[in-house]
Amino acid sequence: MNKPKVIVTRHWPVEVEARLKELYDVQLNEADKIMTADELKHALQTADAVLTTVTDAITADVLSVENKRAKIIGQFGVGYNNIDIQAAKAHGLMVTNTPHVLTDCTADIAMLLLLMSARRASEGERLILNQQWTGWTPTQLLGQKVTGKTLGLIGFGRIAQAMAKKAHHGFDMKILFYVPPSSMPEQQSIDDLHATRCSSLEDLLADSDFVSLHCPAGVTTKHLINEASLKLMRPTAHLINTARGDVVDSQALINALKAGEIAGAGLDVYEGEPQLNPEFLTLNNVALLPHLGSATEETRTAMGKRVLANIAAFFAGHEPNDKVV
Ligand code: DGY
Repeated sequence: MNKPKVIVTRHWPVEVEARLKELYDVQLNEADKIMTADELKHALQTADAVLTTVTDAITADVLSVENKRAKIIGQFGVGYNNIDIQAAKAHGLMVTNTPHVLTDCTADIAMLLLLMSARRASEGERLILNQQWTGWTPTQLLGQKVTGKTLGLIGFGRIAQAMAKKAHHGFDMKILFYVPPSSMPEQQSIDDLHATRCSSLEDLLADSDFVSLHCPAGVTTKHLINEASLKLMRPTAHLINTARGDVVDSQALINALKAGEIAGAGLDVYEGEPQLNPEFLTLNNVALLPHLGSATEETRTAMGKRVLANIAAFFAGHEPNDKVV
């Protein structure tokens, strides 16, 4: 029997690409060049499975291409806001994602950004890189103590809960959370975190020293953090975003950082990334990372294996574990 034809849109970890070569008639993208809309359409017409990721715009237009051969889109990533899910469903395409395996690494990056922002790490590193450090002083770059402070989580799915665990058990932080209407409900026991659910976003923003975003991007969460919500935060508070750029109105955040309405921000994701508002580069009170949430050898390999398991189940006639639609 012929092997199913599989097209992978970006370069993946070596171990997973090797396994794909063994199992499928696979077209890899070792040059790692982002595919155009036309190339994505062609992929849907010529492969049984197209393996996408967060940088592929799988729009309603792409999905509406005539004579599709593909029956499944195996997304490499837990987030899938790059795919028009309703259009995929309407065209009879199954979509899967890769939850669970990136939980800890993404929560680690959120914690890293929290610490960087609180302790002014980016500003300190710039002093050294720019050869401007003249030595220790009792008042240089005083940041804020993290241990014992209050962490407010917006969204309380797997990644938020993993961060809560690290923050509570590692840094003795008090945990608040708020679940926006479209977010994942909490799924684990939270008793040992002594976490308090806030009934409104406003309460969480007002009562937190650190606010960390863990909700999916979508119509209901677009610019959830905006001029008005930033004004509710404490002037000593920090905003951490490892979710998706669209959840934050970046111009409003820049204005708030400049005006000292909040103390700092730690960002891993951006509206319109990889472009980011150039004003971010002029600010000292922001820590910026290039979407590194799941970027470890172990996790990216595990994500690839999760996609492999999903399409293997599909081709064997079973429902994949991570079916989205
Ligand atoms: C995801 O899986 O959605 C992440 O953003 C990729 O790091």
